[in-house]
Amino acid sequence: MGRCFVTRRLPGTALDRLAAAHEVEVWPLRLPPGPGELGSCLAGADGLLSLLTDPIGVAVLERAPGLRAIANYAVGVDNIDVAEATRRGIPVGNTPDVLTETSADFTFALLMAAARRVVEADAAARRDWVTWEPAALLGVDIHGATLGIVGRGRIGGAVARRAEGFGMRVLHSERSAGEPLDELLAASDFVTLHCPLTAETTGLIGARELGLMRPGAVLVNTARGPIVDGDALATALSEGEIAAAALDVTDPEPPPPGHPLLSAPNLLLAPHIASASERTRAAMADCAVNNLLAALAGERMPHCVNPEVYEQSPPSATRRSP
Ligand code: DGY
Repeated sequence: MGRCFVTRRLPGTALDRLAAAHEVEVWPLRLPPGPGELGSCLAGADGLLSLLTDPIGVAVLERAPGLRAIANYAVGVDNIDVAEATRRGIPVGNTPDVLTETSADFTFALLMAAARRVVEADAAARRDWVTWEPAALLGVDIHGATLGIVGRGRIGGAVARRAEGFGMRVLHSERSAGEPLDELLAASDFVTLHCPLTAETTGLIGARELGLMRPGAVLVNTARGPIVDGDALATALSEGEIAAAALDVTDPEPPPPGHPLLSAPNLLLAPHIASASERTRAAMADCAVNNLLAALAGERMPHCVNPEVYEQSPPSATRRSP
């Protein structure tokens, strides 16, 4: 039996399975532990189940010399210094596949809501609906429009299937395939982002790229906030360079009071909920717990982002002093 630290209570029953096999401590608060607190909680831990809001870098890992596995409750692992975990022989797990369709649904919900001004319409209907008006709340058509998908992995592909069902023309761009990004931006009525956050994709959409987009275009980001330069986006919206944006992610999260995006026109904001359906969040918990259980049993994690740790040393002996 090992000792596991879990940084937040999770939906579903997966944590009960973890608790049946290991001693489990769950961080009880709504706000995540700070790096110092996380380090203390990990002092004697064998396994960590972390959230995307837990930065796990060298300083935290140094305080967890016995850590044998990290299972992140997300498909993205940009909150973790994976190279450092690998150096220490610690497998890092993520939760792909189970959230693909749910995240694509929400991307499409944001796309449609921004295009057809659904949030504004709700407010207007409650505030001053006096008659039917020919020119009230005019939006942009989705059918027949061109959608540019940046990063056509699992979620991008699922968004493409939805777009085809809506009669959209679909372009895609990724590092080594598809349209060059500049051409995709210039040719698209809607642009959705689905790439992972890496050094290469940080600031991928900045002032220059927004300037390439069509004046009537809508940008949707359900990937990671830092992929878009928030200040540049606020300016582009204020100056009408693009028509609207819908963001499920920002940099930082949440945007602090006074952040330019909070006062930008035609911006729809959601608090990072693309994968938030009951079934999917429970499935993510199952996936993360399966990763942790496997690693602590000395087996390969079903979803491991640094499988090279298994080449370095046998999974049952992945623990290594820093
Ligand atoms: C992820 O999994 O990376 C999402 O951002 C949260 O579901």
